[in-house]
Amino acid sequence: AFRSHLQPAGGMNTVNPQTVENTAPFNNPGVYQKDDGTYEVVILAKTFAYAPSKLKVPVGKKVRFVLTSTDVTHSFSIVNTNVNMMAVPGQINTKEYSFKKPGNYLILCNEYCGTGHSFMQTTIEAVK
Ligand code: CUA
Repeated sequence: AFRSHLQPAGGMNTVNPQTVENTAPFNNPGVYQKDDGTYEVVILAKTFAYAPSKLKVPVGKKVRFVLTSTDVTHSFSIVNTNVNMMAVPGQINTKEYSFKKPGNYLILCNEYCGTGHSFMQTTIEAVK
């Protein structure tokens, strides 16, 4: 089941990294179904993990990733897709993507971010 509609602040592309965890939409990272049938995935990167830790989206739907970092520069790179986003503190990056095949996709941090860098990964599940 997907969480219901939530409207993030429109048009905003910067955010204070000191207060980002209390700032919508990043105070509630997750997968949201929008009124138009598309999906928004709100992700917060921080040393050395992503919030939320588990992601599930439907195959064939437009998914808009909305990303920032709380601390240092990370990336959010979904293997075998063209989603390769920088997670920069203070900056909100977005990217649209539709998963064509169901499955579990590996997400890696491709920016060296410290001692835990090589363990910073998660998965996103695309479901029919
Ligand atoms: Cu986060 Cu490397």
